[in-house]
Amino acid sequence: MPKGILTNAELERMVETTDEWIMERTGIKERHVSDTNTATSDLCVDATKRALADAGVSPDEVEMLIVATVTPDQILPSTACIVQDKLGLKNALAFDVAAACTGFVYGLSIADHFIRAGTYKKIVVIGAEMLSTITDWEDRTTAVLFGDGAGAAVLEPSKGSEGVLSTFLRSDGSLREFLYVPGGGSRFPSSEKTLQDRMHYVKMSGNNVFKHAVRAMGDAAQKVLDDAGVSSGDLDYFVPHQANLRIIKATAERIHVPMEKVYVNVDRYGNTSSASIPIALDEINRSGGLKDGSLVEMVAFGGGFTWGAALLRW
Ligand code: ACO
Repeated sequence: MPKGILTNAELERMVETTDEWIMERTGIKERHVSDTNTATSDLCVDATKRALADAGVSPDEVEMLIVATVTPDQILPSTACIVQDKLGLKNALAFDVAAACTGFVYGLSIADHFIRAGTYKKIVVIGAEMLSTITDWEDRTTAVLFGDGAGAAVLEPSKGSEGVLSTFLRSDGSLREFLYVPGGGSRFPSSEKTLQDRMHYVKMSGNNVFKHAVRAMGDAAQKVLDDAGVSSGDLDYFVPHQANLRIIKATAERIHVPMEKVYVNVDRYGNTSSASIPIALDEINRSGGLKDGSLVEMVAFGGGFTWGAALLRW
C-alpha cells in the first residue's frame, strides 16, 4: 500500500459528502493514495519483491509475468514490461491484462492454465492500480470509492492435492458503459476537449454496477464450488473483491457463507480494483490465517463488465 492515507473527513472537505453517508453506503473509512512521484509499476515492484522473497524464488527463475491493471504507467509499453525490467526478470515474458476489478482472477486463471499445460513453472501474477489517477476528485459519486495499492503472487506446480482447484471467467461487453473511462484511447485520443469534458476519469452507473455485481459474483462463486465438488460450508475463507461492504455482504448471502468467513478490508483501503484480492490474501497469509489445506474462494466483478472466481486449496 502506498503510505498516503485519505480519510472520509478529508473527503468531506473536497466534495459534498459525509463520513456517515460513505460508511453507510460503502463501509469505506479511508483509502491509500500514492504521491505524484509514484506510478503503478512502482507499486508492482514493491509487492513482487516481497512475494518473491516469501516464495523463495529468484528473479531469474520467473518465466511469465502478468500485471492486471487498468491504470498502466503509460499506453506503450505494457506495465508488465516495465516491471520486468525493474526487477530483472530476464527469463520471463510479460504482459498486461485489462479486466478491471476482475484482473487478478483473470491473471490467476491464465497462470493456472499455463502451469497445468506444463508450459511454464514459475509465474508471477500482480494486481496493481492507481485509481487515484483516473478518479474525478470533483465527482462525489465516485471519489469516495477508490484507492491505490498492489498485491503479487508467485505460482508454481503443486506437489500434492493443493493449489488452484477451479476457476471461472466471464465478461459481457454490452454493459461496458456502466463503468468506463471514455478518453485517452483511440476512440477519443487525449485533446484539449477530452480534458475539458473530464473524459479521462471513471464514469459509473453505481446502481447498475451494484445490481449486476451481486448476481454475477454470486453465480461465479457457486460455479467454481460446484466444479470442484465442494460446498460453501467447506470454505475456510471467502475473499471477495473489496468494492463495498454492501456488495460483499449481499454476495456472501447469495452463496450462504457466514460473515465470519468473509475477509473484509474495504474499510481501510476502499476499492483498489485488481489489487483488492491479492492484498486481502496477503493480509490473511501474513497474519497466519492460511493453514495447509485451507480452502479459499476468491470472486470478483468489474468494468467490462468482467467477472470470475477461483477456488484454491492452500
Ligand atoms: N455523498 C453524499 N451523497 C451522495 C454521494 C456522496 N459521496 N454520492 C451520491 N450521493 C447522493 C446521490 O446524489 C443521490 O442523491 P439524490 O437522491 O438526491 O439524487 C443519493 O446519494 C443516492 O444515490 P445512489 O446512487 O442511489 O446511492 P446508492 O445507494 O446506490 O449508493 C453507490 C451509491 C455507493 C455508488 C452504490 O451504487 C454502489 O456501491 N455501487 C457499486 C459501485 C462500485 O462498487 N463501483 C466500483 C467499481 S465496480 C466494482 O468494483 C464491483
